Amino acid sequence: MITTRLCTLLGIDFPIISAPMTGTATAELAAAVSRTGGFGMIGASLNPDPTWLKDQIQAVKEKTDLPFGVGFINSASGLEKSVEAALDAKVAAVGCSFADPTEFIAQAKNAGVRSFAQVQTLSDAKKAVAAGADVIVAQGSEAGGHTSYMGTLSFVRAVVKIAGDIPVVASGGIADGPGLAAALILGAEGVWLGTRFVASLEWAGPEWVKGQVVIADADATILTKVYDLVTDAPFPPSVGDRVIANTFTDTWHGREAEMMTRQSELNEDVATATAAGDATTAPIRAGAASGLIRSVEPASYIIRELMSQAEAVLKNRTKTLLGG
Ligand SMILES: Cc1cc2nc3c(=O)[nH]c(=O)nc-3n(C[C@H](O)[C@H](O)[C@H](O)COP(=O)(O)O)c2cc1C
Repeated sequence: MITTRLCTLLGIDFPIISAPMTGTATAELAAAVSRTGGFGMIGASLNPDPTWLKDQIQAVKEKTDLPFGVGFINSASGLEKSVEAALDAKVAAVGCSFADPTEFIAQAKNAGVRSFAQVQTLSDAKKAVAAGADVIVAQGSEAGGHTSYMGTLSFVRAVVKIAGDIPVVASGGIADGPGLAAALILGAEGVWLGTRFVASLEWAGPEWVKGQVVIADADATILTKVYDLVTDAPFPPSVGDRVIANTFTDTWHGREAEMMTRQSELNEDVATATAAGDATTAPIRAGAASGLIRSVEPASYIIRELMSQAEAVLKNRTKTLLGG
């Protein structure tokens, strides 16, 4: 059985964390992941009203006593009350992303709650180390949704090298056991998965998005800013947005200035397409790992399959390579 420092730190059986996807990683997914022995995360809504989050935390607690956390998009404003709600509820960990993590980590420490810092740049990784994050999530460019411009392989290694004793978790492009095994070989203590859990029964987003992930190949995605620009999304310039390429990205990626002259009309088109499940125009946030995913499964199955594949690959591949 694979056990890492992350498992010991968080009191979990398997070094797998489900990503806190805003509004779609809800209590159902977080509870399913934690109940299986991973670490489930609720994606705090961008909506500054903390009531939704309190209800979600309560819903997980009703399903399991096992540890789980809440992740935030810290480049958004007005999240203070939601962060307070998560800290008051004494979730096992809170996650910070897309902003300097220093203050967030200090606030979590004061509340006696563990902090995860998901970082996209080495500069933010260094800030997370200096602030004493409990876990640093190195998010590479292959990741679905908002992410780094650096490839996972080199970024994870770079963060491992500066993290000292702080466990690093790899994120971006991992959806199967060989990916998990590779992350562990790089020095990561676990993985943080988004896209694989999009194609899970418990993910709360639309079924048509799950279908798009299942049919997408590894080269079907694009890192772009078009949706953030058109919708005025609160992400810094150091962060891109990986989506499945479609007519909208084919039309506007690379023509952003012209696109913005029609912002309000196109913003409406995107909202209408999202509501209607129109994959030609709506943003479908998913990573390069989509190419490894061919079915929608229960989260418990996904975790068990990843673990057994990783164990097998670590045993067999090492033996073959080393001639043992
Ligand atoms: C649909 C979707 C929504 C996401 N939403 C968030 C979010 O709200 N906050 C966040 O920190 N990361 C978000 N992410 C990024 C994940 O936290 C994670 O870094 C990423 O999914 C890992 O790469 P992978 O998709 O290859 O597993 C999202 C990812 C996806 C696929």
